[in-house]
Amino acid sequence: MKEKRVNIAIDGPSGVGKTVMANMIAKKFNYKFLSSGNFYRIIAYNALKNNIDLTNEALINEAWKFEDIKILDDDSILFKNEDITKKIREDKISRSASIIAKFPLIRQKINKFIQEYAKKFRGVIIDGRDATYRILPEADVKFFLYANPEVRAKRRVNQDKEMGIESNYEEVLKSIKIRDYEDMNRAVDPLKVSEGSVMIDTSNMTVQENFEAMYKIILKELE
Ligand code: C5P
Repeated sequence: MKEKRVNIAIDGPSGVGKTVMANMIAKKFNYKFLSSGNFYRIIAYNALKNNIDLTNEALINEAWKFEDIKILDDDSILFKNEDITKKIREDKISRSASIIAKFPLIRQKINKFIQEYAKKFRGVIIDGRDATYRILPEADVKFFLYANPEVRAKRRVNQDKEMGIESNYEEVLKSIKIRDYEDMNRAVDPLKVSEGSVMIDTSNMTVQENFEAMYKIILKELE
């Protein structure tokens, strides 16, 4: 008998741990994980590199195509053959990604690509801000992960420290709050708790506890 596989969508604000959870779930079930945020980051990176005005949607969108992007098996991201895996995590890129994410044509192009990709597999995990209701509305399991901004800022600073990056708590907190505001208040596909999503407040949870909470819900769906 063929093993049952489900598709999973995870939404939530910046720095809540969606990617960490998605990677853990992908490993546990041998599923494929694609982070929609990476596409916004790649496009923002390309726009900044080419000095394109971040308010010019048409120019930003004309400056990239999917063939330019390669995601390797070890999750490295190549853009026009340049390894940009680390570069797109920089705060400057995070903020620029939030700015260009308000443009509908950019969103449509990204969503189309991810939806085509998701069609090819059973057992995909997509994370983002609109993954549960726009990218993968037919997902079998939908999560909204939440943690208060202070907790998220603390986690980010610790994560940076582990990677040898010095970061300032107050600055990180400010940046998180700005991105929350932009993501929740834009006109097109804002961050929200969509219908059918299971909301998990991870503010007082360890990584393992967060994973267990999601794992149980997925197992139920697989019964
Ligand atoms: O998830 P990540 O932090 O990598 O995403 C970077 C930015 O891209 C977010 O702050 C958000 O503005 C935007 N984004 C979005 N919709 C998605 C994924 C990301 O608007 N589905």
